This record gives sequence, C-alpha cells and structure tokens, in this order.
Amino acid sequence: MQVDLTNRIAIVTGAAQGIGRSIAQALTQNGATVMLSDIQEEKGRATAEELGPNADFFTCDVSDAEQVRELFDTVIERHGRLDIAVNNAGINTGPENRVTIDQYPDEIWHRIINVDLNGTFYCCKAAAAQMIKQHSGSIINIASIAGVVPLRLQIGFVAAKAGVIKLTEAMAAELGPMGIRVNTVSPGSTLVEGTKQLFYNNKELAEKLASFIPMRRPGETNEIAEAVLFLASDAASYVNGHNLVVDGGWVCGFSRDF
Ligand SMILES: NC(=O)c1ccc[n+]([C@@H]2O[C@H](COP(=O)([O-])OP(=O)(O)OC[C@H]3O[C@@H](n4cnc5c(N)ncnc54)[C@H](O)[C@@H]3O)[C@@H](O)[C@H]2O)c1
Repeated sequence: MQVDLTNRIAIVTGAAQGIGRSIAQALTQNGATVMLSDIQEEKGRATAEELGPNADFFTCDVSDAEQVRELFDTVIERHGRLDIAVNNAGINTGPENRVTIDQYPDEIWHRIINVDLNGTFYCCKAAAAQMIKQHSGSIINIASIAGVVPLRLQIGFVAAKAGVIKLTEAMAAELGPMGIRVNTVSPGSTLVEGTKQLFYNNKELAEKLASFIPMRRPGETNEIAEAVLFLASDAASYVNGHNLVVDGGWVCGFSRDF
C-alpha cells in the first residue's frame, strides 16, 4: 500500500525490532518523519539508522510517565507538531507463567499492566495534548486478539489488551470532535523473534498453532504495518474508534469443530 505521509511527524514506541520496526519502516517509506523509541537503546539506534534520514531514535520506557513526556516533548519541540502516534510497545510472559489465576504472580500482572496498559495511557495522553492544539492527528494503539477473545492462562495480557481496546474507543468518543482519530490494530499470532523462539522454530508446535488460524500460517510484521499505515493515512479519514483485527481469521475460527 502506498500513501502520502509527506511532512507528517510520527512516534512509534517499541520500534527497535519486530512489529514496531516494520511500522516505523512503513511510515518512513511513505514519507513520514519518524521518531522510533524503545528501551533497547543500541538496537533502536541501529534500526533508526537502517531506516534512513527520516528516522531517529529516543530511549523511553513507556511504563514511566516522565520518560514518555520527555519523548513527546522532544519530538514536538523539534518539529512543532505531531501527526501520528503508534503505541506499540508491549510485553507478555513465556510458558513459565501460563498458569491459572490462583497461581498467577502479582508482579507479572503489575508488570504487564504497567507496560501494556499504563504505558499506552501515558503515550495517548501526551499525544492527545498536542493533537488537541492542532485539531488533527491519528493515534493507533497496538492491542492483540487476546483483548478480543481471551487466551487461556494469560490473564495479565488479556486484561491489558482488552483495556487498550476500550481505552481506544473511549478516546475516540472524546477526541473525535477535536479532529483526532483513535484506532486499535489487534495482531494475531505474528512472526517475530519471540514467537519464533516460543513456537515457530518447533515444527510440531508451529503446526498446532497454525491449525487455529483459518489462513493456516502466522502473520508477517509487514502485514500488521500495512494496517497501521492505512489508519495513519487520510485513506482512513472517517475511521475512528475501530479495532482492526489482523489475524488471518483466528477470532473467526475460535469456535472449533466438535
Ligand atoms: N508478535 C505477536 O504475535 C503479537 C500478537 C499480538 C499482539 N502483539 C503486540 O504487538 C506489539 C509488538 O510486539 P512484537 O511482537 O513486535 O514484540 P517484540 O518483543 O519483538 O517487540 C516489542 C518491543 O517493545 C519494546 N519494549 C518492551 N517493553 C518496553 C517498555 N517498557 N518501553 C518501551 N519499549 C518496550 C521491546 O524492547 C521490543 O523492542 C506488542 O504490543 C505486542 O503485545 C504481538
């Protein structure tokens, strides 16, 4: 997909690798000036360098409200505006914490809520403050199909991502009258380093997981980025409060044959 984002200023969190990297790449390739941000400083800088002169990097832990303010203030001071905010940074836990609620560690719950939900809130708040002044802007939050259909034994992630989807809808209602669109993209199982290590490098597990997906394969990061690109662009000028699920049909196939 090609759109014209010339002169648009964007922030992408969690952009050192994975889906965030692909989103930042899609935005720069379509003309936007993008500030990548992540807790991984070295990798983030290297990624920004690879993406070319329209990409820069700023270290920021999204679960820290002060660091988020610094990130957004830096971009706004430098460019005088903010057109696109993609709140992508997120974490989940591995199989060691896939347990029922009675066993679920409090610290894991708090860590996931702090990064995935509170971090998204801080970023949205900072983005909205500037976009209200401009009377324009597009905010895109990255949630998950886990926020649509609960995945068993992942309550922290499920609750955080469901929160992100509802936060988005609430903001769409608040900010729509101010010329700002707020939408969610919910990826299904997507090929990144983490999911390769967890499932996709293991043939048996990969086949089992693919059997849940009507398209019988995981998504590629660029397939998530295309959805974000659409929502960031004027092609989506009347799309507000939507949750765009990009999952090869996972949530439709959720009801299994029996
Ligand atoms: N890959 C999937 O299958 C999948 C499925 C559904 C949703 N998602 C969501 O997509 C988003 C991107 O995930 P990904 O698959 O690319 O994972 P990833 O782990 O490859 O990338 C996440 C990035 O976020 C950064 N990050 C982690 N904590 C951070 C913090 N506190 N502050 C700033 N940056 C932080 C990491 O350093 C990393 O670069 C996440 O929100 C994730 O929940 C991914």
